Amino acid sequence: MNEFFRLDDAACVKCGACVRDCAFKALARGADGAPVLTHPERCMRCQHCFAICPTGAVTFDGRRASDARATAGLELPSAAAVDNWLHVRRSTRQFAAADVDPAVLDRVLTSLGSVPTGCNARALTFTCYPNRASLARFKDAFIRAIEEHRDGAKLLPRWLAVPAIRLRRGGDDLFFRNAAGMLIVSSDETNPAVTTPHEDVIATLAYFEMLAQANGLATCWCGFLKLVQKEVPELLEKAAGIRRTTPFYAMLFGKSAVRYPRTVQRDSYAVIDYR
Ligand SMILES: Cc1cc2nc3c(=O)[nH]c(=O)nc-3n(C[C@H](O)[C@H](O)[C@H](O)COP(=O)(O)O)c2cc1C
Repeated sequence: MNEFFRLDDAACVKCGACVRDCAFKALARGADGAPVLTHPERCMRCQHCFAICPTGAVTFDGRRASDARATAGLELPSAAAVDNWLHVRRSTRQFAAADVDPAVLDRVLTSLGSVPTGCNARALTFTCYPNRASLARFKDAFIRAIEEHRDGAKLLPRWLAVPAIRLRRGGDDLFFRNAAGMLIVSSDETNPAVTTPHEDVIATLAYFEMLAQANGLATCWCGFLKLVQKEVPELLEKAAGIRRTTPFYAMLFGKSAVRYPRTVQRDSYAVIDYR
């Protein structure tokens, strides 16, 4: 038996649920009907065999059923609550001058470790600037990188140079919206096991937006840093260590300075094309 998949023979009821749910057929039923890990190289460590076992007979990577959350009776949002959340969530571009509770942020980031990733690769890095002081250090490094930037006679693009001057002078913060913090989610483009690096990053931040707003934080996608990576990648490399090829996206967060008493009324959110 392979080390990471262990079976409590006495507890196994040989129902075959784990074998049927194994995405890449790493498990097969043995002569007595109990699961056998016949193709460990196919296993993507999704732990479905562990999660689906009705008697908790599977131990995976040393994790026992008794350590996991039992799903029966767990408090979950209703369909109506999720629908309301989707309508009520907003991109906040006016943040209050206040830090967020580090315990809340920690809870959100810990939950975020459970996001799905393509082929369960989970090769994500969460680079977090958790408060205003930390984000200010990033902004300083970023502005310093802009000031030190030399590229022959080529000038920095206007969309970057003009707001940067304003930011340095303590004026409007068009880049970071005076947010309290920023989360950069990045993937590893050098890891051959990562099949969907860009999708993993965006999906993770969509979950972050949901978790953060459910915890009373405001958020805003920060696409500006993507433009920087595309147009002047050395700036981001200097300020945050993000290479020109690193798949990443950023999200600002903080307390909202505004309240929206109603949802928006879009004509249509998407074309629904039943076939
Ligand atoms: C992938 C992605 C990137 C985005 N980038 C930015 C951005 O760079 N700046 C920004 O202010 N909003 C950004 N947004 C937020 C959208 O502009 C926003 O969803 C839209 O304006 C509708 O507002 P709402 O989110 O409040 O419904 C982004 C959203 C997504 C999904």
